Amino acid sequence: MMSNDNLNKAAEILKSGGLVAIPTETVYGLAANALDKEAVVKIFIAKDRPFFDPLILHTNSIEKVRTFVEEIPETALLLASKFWPGPLTLLLPKKQIIPDIVTSGLTNVAIRIPNHELTLELLSELDFPLAAPSANPFGYVSPTSAAHVEAQLADKVDMILDGGECNVGIESTIVGFDGDDVIVHRLGGLEIESIEETIGAKVIMSINHSSDPKAPGQLKSHYAPLKKLIVSDNVANVLKENKNIGVISFTKNYNLENTAHSQILSPKGDLAEAAHNLFGAIRNLDKENVDFIVAEIFPNSLLGMAINDRLARAAG
Ligand code: TXA
Ligand code: MG
Repeated sequence: MMSNDNLNKAAEILKSGGLVAIPTETVYGLAANALDKEAVVKIFIAKDRPFFDPLILHTNSIEKVRTFVEEIPETALLLASKFWPGPLTLLLPKKQIIPDIVTSGLTNVAIRIPNHELTLELLSELDFPLAAPSANPFGYVSPTSAAHVEAQLADKVDMILDGGECNVGIESTIVGFDGDDVIVHRLGGLEIESIEETIGAKVIMSINHSSDPKAPGQLKSHYAPLKKLIVSDNVANVLKENKNIGVISFTKNYNLENTAHSQILSPKGDLAEAAHNLFGAIRNLDKENVDFIVAEIFPNSLLGMAINDRLARAAG
């Protein structure tokens, strides 16, 4: 028995092939037993996600990871030891036991150990890994609270395990390996600078901004709100020329009459706090009566890189 009834209920649902929205430190995931093809199909249907877009496997120990992958290269092990549990996803050669539907037929499986107390306890109770994409309809901004999941997927999941607001608030950084090289496929909650410091080398960026389905996960329209969003290096000017806009800024209060609604992500200028607030801010403005949303360009280092990436994708 686990420490609370909700955890026991979540485990029962997952064991019987159901869907549970789970909290992680990055965003909420829409989880199913990764070894049960029929359960995994339900994820794609609930999200309206194309089958060519593979899922991330979640588990709670490196020992378990070894049972799902053919090998863990030395550099991968170095990163895993340092940053797991945490916002880092590794692409590793999958074993047969992982169904092809999870990886969309690719030979690598994406895998991570999330850093959230409830979900780690849940995973430790299960004898299978969880496949979990972000718990949002395909193409929309990822959920960083149980309420976000509830708003869009309430009738599509068997249960939402409420673990509070996601600390990091932006999806995991995805990296793959090619010989000694570390290839970054998605910017995310673990900073590139931390990876480079750990491996003692530069990473190779392979972040695809096209909408080529062969480059899974990097679809251009990802993270798009329903309202038009633009990114500008001169927000003040955009505000002068338009009425009724929503503004996303880092620290600045534009305080102009035309700013119908404003979301300041971190008044004290902390990028981690800004990342934590980003998706909630987009959701808030999406609900307001604004004609469009304008966002500042963030400082392009540390988590600012991932924030700029998500804003660019939201802008389409
Ligand atoms: O932080 C996260 O990573 C969250 C939480 C729930 O863990 N999950 C998440 O999943 O963001 P999702 O499905 O929304 O995004 C995962 C991305 C997808 O864009 C997918 O294409 C890519 O990872 N991906 C998954 N498996 C892959 C693989 N085998 N090769 C290349 N890309 C892969
Ligand atoms: Mg997603």
